[in-house]
Amino acid sequence: MKHRHEFEDWARPHEGVMPNRAYYIPFAPGQDPVQAMRESSERFVLLNGTWQMQLYDKISAVPEEFCQPEFDASGYPPMPVPSCWQTQGLDQNQYSNVRYPIPFDPPFVPHQNPCGAYRTHFTVDAAMLSQQVYLNFEGVDSFFYVWVNGHRVGYSQVSHSTSEFDVTPYLVEGENLLAVLVMKWSVGTYLECQDKFRMSGIFRDVYLLMRPRQHIRDFGVRTWGRENYTRAVIQVGVEWNGGEGELEWELYDPQGSLVCRGEAATEFTIHLEEPHFWTAETPELYQLLLRTEEEVICQPVGVRDITTKGRQVLLNGKPLRLKGVNRHDSDPVTGFTISYEQALKDLALMKQHNVNAIRSSHYPNAPWFVQMCDRYGFYMIDEADIECHGVTELFGGGDETTFGLIAQWKEFEPLILDRVQRCIIRDKNSPAVIIWSLGNESGHGPGFEKAGIWGRDYDPTRLMHYEGSWHQTGGHINDTSMFDLYSRMYNEPAFVRQWLANSANTKPFLLVEYCHAMGNGPGDLEDYEKLFLEEPGVLGGFVWEWCDHAVDGGVTADGRRKFLYGGDSGEFPHDINFCVDGLVSPDRIPHTGLKELKNVWRPVRAYLNDGEIQLRSTLDFMDVSQLAEYRWELQLDGVVVEQGRGELPTISARQTACMPLPCGLPQQPGRVDLRLVYLARTDGDFVKAGDELGFDQLTLRQSEKQELRLQPAALAVEEDDEEIRVSGENFAYVLNRFTGCFKSLVWNGAERLAGPMGFNVWRAPTDNDRKIRRVWEQAGYNRAQVRVADCQVLAEEGTAIRCDLVFAASIRQPFLRCTALWQIGADGTIALELEGKRDEMFPFLPRFGVRMMLPAGFEQLDYTGYGPQESYLDKKNACWFGHFAGTVSDEYVDTIKPQEHGSHVGCEQMRLRCADAALWAAGDQPFSFRASHYPQELLTSTAHNFELKKGDEVELCLDYKNSGIGSNSCGPVLADEYALKETEFRMRLFFGFAPVTAE
Ligand code: GAL
Ligand code: MG
Repeated sequence: MKHRHEFEDWARPHEGVMPNRAYYIPFAPGQDPVQAMRESSERFVLLNGTWQMQLYDKISAVPEEFCQPEFDASGYPPMPVPSCWQTQGLDQNQYSNVRYPIPFDPPFVPHQNPCGAYRTHFTVDAAMLSQQVYLNFEGVDSFFYVWVNGHRVGYSQVSHSTSEFDVTPYLVEGENLLAVLVMKWSVGTYLECQDKFRMSGIFRDVYLLMRPRQHIRDFGVRTWGRENYTRAVIQVGVEWNGGEGELEWELYDPQGSLVCRGEAATEFTIHLEEPHFWTAETPELYQLLLRTEEEVICQPVGVRDITTKGRQVLLNGKPLRLKGVNRHDSDPVTGFTISYEQALKDLALMKQHNVNAIRSSHYPNAPWFVQMCDRYGFYMIDEADIECHGVTELFGGGDETTFGLIAQWKEFEPLILDRVQRCIIRDKNSPAVIIWSLGNESGHGPGFEKAGIWGRDYDPTRLMHYEGSWHQTGGHINDTSMFDLYSRMYNEPAFVRQWLANSANTKPFLLVEYCHAMGNGPGDLEDYEKLFLEEPGVLGGFVWEWCDHAVDGGVTADGRRKFLYGGDSGEFPHDINFCVDGLVSPDRIPHTGLKELKNVWRPVRAYLNDGEIQLRSTLDFMDVSQLAEYRWELQLDGVVVEQGRGELPTISARQTACMPLPCGLPQQPGRVDLRLVYLARTDGDFVKAGDELGFDQLTLRQSEKQELRLQPAALAVEEDDEEIRVSGENFAYVLNRFTGCFKSLVWNGAERLAGPMGFNVWRAPTDNDRKIRRVWEQAGYNRAQVRVADCQVLAEEGTAIRCDLVFAASIRQPFLRCTALWQIGADGTIALELEGKRDEMFPFLPRFGVRMMLPAGFEQLDYTGYGPQESYLDKKNACWFGHFAGTVSDEYVDTIKPQEHGSHVGCEQMRLRCADAALWAAGDQPFSFRASHYPQELLTSTAHNFELKKGDEVELCLDYKNSGIGSNSCGPVLADEYALKETEFRMRLFFGFAPVTAE
């Protein structure tokens, strides 16, 4: 038995693999390849389909003859190719973030190393036999051997890259056997420690390319703008296999007209007058046809160049701003295997939400995905398939000590370079790719320095970045001179501003990850946007991340879909739900954070300026007025009273313009808001004319602060040592002297509380609360008790009860002291005036307010505040101030791991109605509320959404304040201004019951 295998050989990562080349698909000379699907090429034979595959738990269990035609594989089960075998019920699901799932002992991997023995047959005819035939694998995780008709063809690794083999010598006429052995673990595993479910198998397309003996091997297309971008140059270099042949080329403009043609063998240059430049806003592509005697290749060409000037990145000479997301290939059912349709769905959603850039975190996507970005207009950071994050988890290791271990390990150098080359050479002709990335979270050292230098020399037409390069460890002095950008992740805006303030920092700043979109969040999108809009030295950022990762767990008995995360498959190690951190759910339902993002990234922003509207374009190239028109709504106290449509004035990229208000102000008193909703003017690929692109709300007149008043009344009051009972014409309320709150509210003959009312400082922690939660729990906020130090009926003003309250938890000293003044009016209205003093040494409070459980039936909800979706102090950009109506059930916001959701901030009033009564609340300062069938205790203790049991009763939280959301699950701590941190606060809240009137 072998004790060392090729998949543990770091000196020879590939065998029999063709040298890297740009991605292209040859067509037959008679075919029209322009915008044709590759499947329609006569020279392309897709081998995808149902293969056979037997999974073994170690290589020593694989019969050596499995790759031979005579081997009896009748027992091998069917296996779809492409797919990940874990999605087919084999092996085990495992979600691990930073930690390596195997012992760290490079280049070795455990003997227990699941391996898939794949077999399929394909037919070869005489015509094919006269050709050069190449076998291509676009993605296999993590290492594979290939045999054709029992002959060993070679092996390869680097999961997310193309491996091409020349199989010409092994083919026979008729039926041919392709056998592949895929290893789960290999030396490559040490370089593929990306934060994801660890899946295996042939997960991308497999195909044959039939080519003439003499053919174009590789070619490169480069473009530059010239003479102030009135002209452009396209430079093409061609390399041949089998000797130089004759080449005719043609260039078509984006409308399909022939621009020019020529002949050349290896090099040619095209000069364009008044070219159409490619940008993500205007993804216009020329088509370059390369014709040889027996082939035609079509290369879409986006004419563009990317440069830096000081700390600004310029695309076609104009400042560029990236509104980006980090995207993994991920699907709960298909794993890493992504079809055209799945990819288009992502791109469509991105366009519809104003995303203009994608970082292919943390490996190259399928080559056709990159071409989709060319065509639909997305800037890409194309990242090499490298992450060695696990080196920080070694015993005795850490970020400060061992991060550079692999980056500085001599034997890994060629492997790092190999991965960078596979990425850059494959995608070098794609206009969408504007930045190369050497990988993610792998520390820094000579391995990356050499790869970076190679990349700069090979492709000087793009920017180079590597976030890991700022980590200096192991005594190595980092050389970062090969990088054009200074890139970081998750720094707070203040850090970035400080960095920019230092003139010694000369590179553009890039937030390659920010705003961790885990669970309810992110809450800090707008604050970062301010930074981006104010600071030209920041290229922008990429939100982490596009989609939640989860694996499909089927459905519950009552038909609810089950999404599983780390630990749900019994694996070790795992990182629970840290993979559920996307802007869309695993099945691509936008989360509220994506709606927030969309409006934060609206193409134009409106401000009030001296009675006029000032508009500022956030586009880099187009005139906003070509993209959008608008609809306006005039609101009086949140209700639309007038509306209309209008045209935007001309606003060139990044500029401002003014326009008059589209309407006058109403005569009636009250708050007046104007909402401008930007609408697409024309149909695009994914956005149709009339679709909303974003909106602004401008407050034209504030509400007049009118103090809410109570009708004072001397009501019947009875008290004893336990209770204070207050009753009036159609109500009877009971206050518990030892909670300081009501335990019963009988109104119109019926009890309206399903449980005692209480003061509330807790909320079901959001994922973004995951760190502060520990501090909150230490403070005891999750088990806070109220002691009523004093409780007295005051006779002076009508009927009033004063309670002095002390909040503390077991073990700890008091964190909060309050005086609550309850007043009850003639009609049963309750006013609560509360003054709080918070002990500063304690952490900020999750929230503060009163909570009550209302009996089943209080289902109809309306409110005046920030809606229609959930809103928080720092997460309300997809919301506007308005009057909204709906149901309590609709307030539920789905996240795979249950948590606080569905609050509304900035409210003036709210109402819940059942058949015969309405509970209403109003404040003289804006308050926050949450009405839900899922009480906070349930949300705190339930691990998955599909385990939640919806209650009939309604939890109503009326809050002085609910702390903001932030993105501290991975990002900075919640900014002070959004946290309930004040040491003294005051609230005045009114609530009561009213008859339900027919509406
Ligand atoms: C970053 C990392 C990502 C992901 C994210 C947390 O540090 O680059 O891959 O792990 O944190 O979700
Ligand atoms: Mg990582």
